[in-house]
Amino acid sequence: MTNFDLTPNRRNPHNANKWTRYPKDTLPMWVADMDFRAPKPILDALHKAVEHGVLGYEMPSESLKETVAARMDKLYKWKVKPEAVVAVTGIVSGFSVAARIACTPKKGVLVQTPVYNEFHEVKNNIGVPQLDAPFVKRADGNIISYEIDWDIFEKQVKKAGMFLLCNPHNPLGIIFSRKDLLKMAELCIKNNVVIVSDEIHSELLLDGNSFTPMAKLSREIESHTITLIAPSKTFNVPGLFCGFAIIPNEELRKRYEREVSHLRLHVGSMGLFAARAAFSGSCDGWLKDLRRYLTDNRDFLVGYVTEYMPEVRTTIPDATYLGWLDFTQTGMKESPYDFFLKNAKVALSDGKIFGKEGEGHIRLNFGASRALLMQGLDRMQKALEKI
Ligand SMILES: Cc1ncc(COP(=O)(O)O)c(C=O)c1O
Repeated sequence: MTNFDLTPNRRNPHNANKWTRYPKDTLPMWVADMDFRAPKPILDALHKAVEHGVLGYEMPSESLKETVAARMDKLYKWKVKPEAVVAVTGIVSGFSVAARIACTPKKGVLVQTPVYNEFHEVKNNIGVPQLDAPFVKRADGNIISYEIDWDIFEKQVKKAGMFLLCNPHNPLGIIFSRKDLLKMAELCIKNNVVIVSDEIHSELLLDGNSFTPMAKLSREIESHTITLIAPSKTFNVPGLFCGFAIIPNEELRKRYEREVSHLRLHVGSMGLFAARAAFSGSCDGWLKDLRRYLTDNRDFLVGYVTEYMPEVRTTIPDATYLGWLDFTQTGMKESPYDFFLKNAKVALSDGKIFGKEGEGHIRLNFGASRALLMQGLDRMQKALEKI
């Protein structure tokens, strides 16, 4: 038994969104946080800050920016100057700020659908057009995968001010190949489109997969790119709302910083303390164990669906703790989200919040104990048997 096998009580007094939105008898497998305790070095850093006793206004320090830059060097040999690092109150606010400087009512935000629901809110929050470049879905038996439709991408990028890339991709779990990244970047640069690369899931690698940040591919790409990273998903501290925008291009960074300052987006000091511990390297042993646990959960999920839900199709995610199940071949009349909520008492994410291509699909969060995952799948399988 490992710590990942435990399911802490997150209802009271925490009032975790994941655990309190639905009735008590419903298993929550939806919003993207994990049920795991954060690694000890992060918790120790937070305890230390509390013991100090003064929780005043604190700023991202030079040494924290150096820690973030050093992590990029350690993980990817990507040399980033500490001054290129801007602290943000989370990745959603990070890309919203980017849209405010890169988009206009005539130059919209390009997204590859289906994609993380908050990507779809930029158009409303910032008041700019959304340009969809849907993926092409392929099936091999019950395994589905997604590819870029380059004709659509090329058509849409011409109308964009910013390309909001999700890599690794939520909800599809894709780590894009170097070849695909280079082609996306080439089209963006040709059309003078700012690349905003949301890499929040980049350390949640399954199997022995590796990852390369978009901006690491060339100096030219780097100068057109805002990279968004955070310790929040990897180390399960999303409630601390702390992330980083890495913007080596000075002119772009100055505009970005000005906007962050106008909006008064100050990061809480606890988030800064946690980020320092998270990126220091002292949590990497925990992360190695986490990746193994999540890889086993992913394999369990794919194996379970293949064996016990033969008409259901699934991706094999390369990264993240998010599964993506396709019920379009099952003959199910209502949305699988409604179906499982009602008939299995399992709360999943409705595929359609990720774009209309997500209808008939659900996203399943397997960042939980194996026992909880098994229980959820068993409930789903029993409900399916009845139709
Ligand atoms: C791709 C992606 N970006 C951003 C976020 C949220 O980031 P934050 O909580 O830092 O705003 C999520 C959370 O699920 C995500 O999956």
